[in-house]
Amino acid sequence: MTNRLLSALPTTIFEVMSGLARDHDAVNLGQGFPDSEGVLEVRQAAAEAALNGYNQYPPMAGLMDLREALCGFYARRQGLNIAPGNVLITCGATEALAATFLGLIEPGDEVVLFQPLYDSYAPMVRRAGGVPRFVTLSPPDYRFTEEMLEAVASPRTRLVVFNNPHNPCAVVHDAAQTALLARFCVRHGLIAVCDDVWEEVVFGDPAFQPLYSVDGMAERCVKIGSAGKIFALTGWKIGWTIAAEPLTRAIAKAHQFLTFTIAPPLQAAIALGLNLDDAPLVELLAGFRRSRDRLTEGLIAEGFQVAPSQGTYFLNIDLPGSGIEMPDADFAKLAVTQAGVATIPVSAFFDEAPVTRSLRLCYAKRDETLDRGVERLAQARKLATQ
Ligand SMILES: Cc1ncc(COP(=O)(O)O)c(C=O)c1O
Repeated sequence: MTNRLLSALPTTIFEVMSGLARDHDAVNLGQGFPDSEGVLEVRQAAAEAALNGYNQYPPMAGLMDLREALCGFYARRQGLNIAPGNVLITCGATEALAATFLGLIEPGDEVVLFQPLYDSYAPMVRRAGGVPRFVTLSPPDYRFTEEMLEAVASPRTRLVVFNNPHNPCAVVHDAAQTALLARFCVRHGLIAVCDDVWEEVVFGDPAFQPLYSVDGMAERCVKIGSAGKIFALTGWKIGWTIAAEPLTRAIAKAHQFLTFTIAPPLQAAIALGLNLDDAPLVELLAGFRRSRDRLTEGLIAEGFQVAPSQGTYFLNIDLPGSGIEMPDADFAKLAVTQAGVATIPVSAFFDEAPVTRSLRLCYAKRDETLDRGVERLAQARKLATQ
């Protein structure tokens, strides 16, 4: 696809599937949001901030309280040494990505993207004048090699976008992969755009190591995060970039014309949340682990082949391994229209040469939603195989 016009693109698969889920009164295991309300202390802090004077334009870079809280949070959780001048607050990770691409890409620059990939990367890279160069990752482990990276490198390569933990594959790239990518970035003088939004939804095997923490990488990384994922408040859309000051300045030049500033009561509340102890995060993760295991076990009992989820709100079903010969998009359509369960076909996360064998499910739902989802998927499997 070479058209740069965003208006020429189809509506995102998440919107399409959520629409079909509404039309068919389906269980929605498609779009990635928890059906809980998120951390209570943080929600209370937002209400109080709105009642007590956080309502006019805050500074363009974000509230200093929030930028300082992020420095403390990342020092505590990931051992990173970040100053408030390295932080820019954005409208979710989505705006952080857009501002990074618009701020750093010169027309004709080549950008290495791993596919399957989050849906905004390729259109926004192209809109910024960049030329995507794709590295395709394959199940079951989605690993990349030096040869795969070198095959797409050229003197015009400027950026590489690295999503870890990875949506939709639900894998955590380990320290060896991170080190390999760091060497590639240094060898070719690249900036790494690290989409780390899932950094707090990791189950520990392998451990998450931010690329930013690898020796020599802090100067060439743009680390992107999202409070929506950290506190299970996906609708809030508070995100950030963390980068060396020259990169932060360039990204801020784009941010000033995209959103300029972000809702201050929400910023104040996230600052409070980041300064709490780790108890709410531990509790959230324990709940996600239980839900992940419940959905995995339910699906396996119904004959599905499930890839273990190492992180994110997602897990993947392998369709041929589950005895389903249909391409993923056809099965997803059948499942939502005839069995009443919405999922996302992983082929929707490819820009070229899609692999059509996997379905992505969001497990961050209540037990009864997961159980009904399993029943309906079993019904869809019966329809697809009869
Ligand atoms: C890999 C990845 N990047 C970015 C985002 C967008 O995050 P936000 O809601 O903070 O804009 C998501 C949301 O699911 C995601 O999975």
